[in-house]
Amino acid sequence: MSEFDKITLTAGDKSFALPVLHPTLGQSCVDIASLPKETGCFTFDPGFGATASTRSAITYIDGDQGVLLYRGYPIEQLAEKSSFLEVAYLLLNGELPGSADFAKFEHEVSHHTMMHESLKHFFRGFHHDAHPMAMLAASVASLSAFYHDDLNVDDPADRKMAAIRLIAKMPTIAAACYRYSIGWPMGFPRNNLEYVERFLHMMFEVPSEPLQMNPVAAKALDLLFILHADHEQNASTSTVRLVGSTGANPYASIAAGITALWGPAHGGANEAVLKQLQEIGSADNVASAVLRAKDKNDPFRLMGFGHRVYKNFDPRAKIIREMCHKVLAELGVNDPLLEVAMRLEEAALKDDYFVERKLYPNVDFYSGIIYKALGIPTEMFTVMFAIARTAGWIAHWIEQHETPGARIGRPRQLYTGHDVRDYVGIDQR
Ligand code: SDX
Repeated sequence: MSEFDKITLTAGDKSFALPVLHPTLGQSCVDIASLPKETGCFTFDPGFGATASTRSAITYIDGDQGVLLYRGYPIEQLAEKSSFLEVAYLLLNGELPGSADFAKFEHEVSHHTMMHESLKHFFRGFHHDAHPMAMLAASVASLSAFYHDDLNVDDPADRKMAAIRLIAKMPTIAAACYRYSIGWPMGFPRNNLEYVERFLHMMFEVPSEPLQMNPVAAKALDLLFILHADHEQNASTSTVRLVGSTGANPYASIAAGITALWGPAHGGANEAVLKQLQEIGSADNVASAVLRAKDKNDPFRLMGFGHRVYKNFDPRAKIIREMCHKVLAELGVNDPLLEVAMRLEEAALKDDYFVERKLYPNVDFYSGIIYKALGIPTEMFTVMFAIARTAGWIAHWIEQHETPGARIGRPRQLYTGHDVRDYVGIDQR
């Protein structure tokens, strides 16, 4: 946090002061709202690497120290002691629930897990090999068509109901995407199961026989959901906020977040990592992969490496890496890709190119190996990310709507096009 309360800028023969806003933790921010009036200039920050877009009390990240807090609680403690549904409550409400509040929340969520039967017909419009993220985004966007009576974004009760519905239905819709892709009937959520077990049951139950639930798998997935639940103003959360700032309904806003997450530079990286590890194939090919990743003429990047904010280890990656060994051992899975991943990490972390640029494994580097061990197909990896991140997205969407005086997001630009010019008829061109 900076000690000073203002910065003074000089523009030509004019000097003026800009106020500095101080946080609870982390970097202070220069309030530049008066800059255009004082100087006629905008700020220029493509990629928003130096720009705070909002105040928020939900998640804090210290990229240099590798710190991640949800509502002040360190991710390591939540990973060890909490559950995804309890973390979802924390992100939404700002405090850990007492047992009565949690029981009420769990009851609300478990009684909103079914999707409208008409929604199932939407899937039939997709080819069986449609990417599940396409089906998920379309299905979530269409939810507003079923709840048009309580879509008042200015009504706290409607906002809370939307949060419950989205957290409850995302696993049901996600499982339906998978079941449609393999030609199996879509299951119904079992309210007697915990959140993650209910999801695994919808994913893998075979109508003709009871599913033997593996507690190791359920615990591992619950932990992955905790780690993916929120992450400050990342690309998809910023998308949700920008769409939400227009007054769009929560389902449209979250669907926009899903499409933003899909990109391989963001949540799509977990799917890309597994495909890359399969392409590398063995530890013998790691050196050539690292060389390609360093070659500016080669678009090849080490997927699952690097981060805009973390210039130290992503604390989630550390937890997931340890989990990988434990879960695969407990499941009796011996996946050679884990060896490739470890050799790749080892080679990169010793290489000046990665060390100088502070490129470390991020949340996506090891998660796919665990998903694979749980029997989740590669195309569903980013869907897993979306299920978890729905808690963070809707918490930010609600926070934004609870902020008095919130305005529509509307960035400006540095115009580099033509100067004004007159139209010329086609016969003169
Ligand atoms: C997520 O923002 C969040 O919080 C996201 C997330 C969340 O929880 O919401 O944490 C989830 O999206 C994690 C990131 C997943 N994406 C990947 O793993 C894709 C691979 N990583 C890169 O594409 C990249 O590191 C980004 C997109 C993650 C970050 O991009 P930046 O901050 O714009 O960094 P950059 O592209 O400016 O890179 C800086 C330098 C460049 O080299 P130089 O121009 O300095 O010579 O590092 C190089 C880059 O070429 N670089 C890489 C690299 N990542 C960056 N080189 C090789 N392999 C990589 N993975």
